[in-house]
Amino acid sequence: MTAPHIAPDMRPQGFYNAMASRYDRMVGFENRLATAREFVRELGRRTDTPRGSAAVDLGCGTGAYALALAGDGFSPAWGVDIAAEMLSKAREHAARLGIRATFVEGDLTALPALLPWAGTDLVLCLGNTLPHLIEPADLGRSLGQMHGLLRPGGAAVLQTLNYGRILARRERVVSIDRDGDWEFLRFYDFLDNGLLGFNLLTIEWRQGRAREPVTLTTTLLRPYRQQELEEAAAAHGFRIADRLGSLGFSPFDPAESDTLILLLRRISRDRPSGTAGPTARPMPARTRALRVRRSVVSG
Ligand SMILES: C[S@@+](CC[C@H](N)C(=O)[O-])C[C@H]1O[C@@H](n2cnc3c(N)ncnc32)[C@H](O)[C@@H]1O
Repeated sequence: MTAPHIAPDMRPQGFYNAMASRYDRMVGFENRLATAREFVRELGRRTDTPRGSAAVDLGCGTGAYALALAGDGFSPAWGVDIAAEMLSKAREHAARLGIRATFVEGDLTALPALLPWAGTDLVLCLGNTLPHLIEPADLGRSLGQMHGLLRPGGAAVLQTLNYGRILARRERVVSIDRDGDWEFLRFYDFLDNGLLGFNLLTIEWRQGRAREPVTLTTTLLRPYRQQELEEAAAAHGFRIADRLGSLGFSPFDPAESDTLILLLRRISRDRPSGTAGPTARPMPARTRALRVRRSVVSG
């Protein structure tokens, strides 16, 4: 399949760079960070990942999960994102909160060049980031590289919206959020090629009227269903350890859940062929030593 032509402002980096100054307002950053902190704490417990373990958040956006990881004692904690403007917001949050996390600009299909080591304990890819990989081959490439980043037995957590339900019911509206005078409408177009046009309409209200210009930005998503994600994960050396329907750890219900969270474990020692780059090498010794020391203390 050839890649569909995508105008530069429809690519994820154009879409998210354009909205970066308002993203935190749209999602409610402080609440998101509080939810992220609870999720990360419980995840560490359930996956038996001790403090001091290395963690990476892919498609980190303005940094809520990477900051929650660092704040919970994961070290080093990295965030990777393709949109420079989103990362500069993440760095601002880190400085304001006094949290040490490292934010790297890059593509989640080019991880070996960005994070050229292996032995990470936990990889997150949350907040519906994976559907931005509109080519299934890129989803596979990224999963293979996540596998290459993780130590054997390490955990990966993937979150998408529940596209099985969304497609079955043809649910166009994703959300309508208001913060003060700002209103954000997120909605889909169901395209003939199976992709979704993901639209964001931003309105600034002034005395009951929409201030001109009202802006509409669009990017493309591939609505991966549960089965597609699970098959891709299994093909790249992961076992499905759990399926959750919310960040509160409720079980996934295909008919009702808003979201699908797959908790994966890296099963094989060997990297699936052709997925991780030749540069992958063990995590820096200092990082490993830190993890061992801390786990001894906590054990
Ligand atoms: C919906 S936002 C989610 C942000 C964050 N995970 C959260 O939950 O708040 C999706 C993020 O994925 C990033 N992204 C999309 N495609 C990407 C790619 N190929 N490589 C790296 N980041 C990507 C976007 O720039 C954006 O910041």
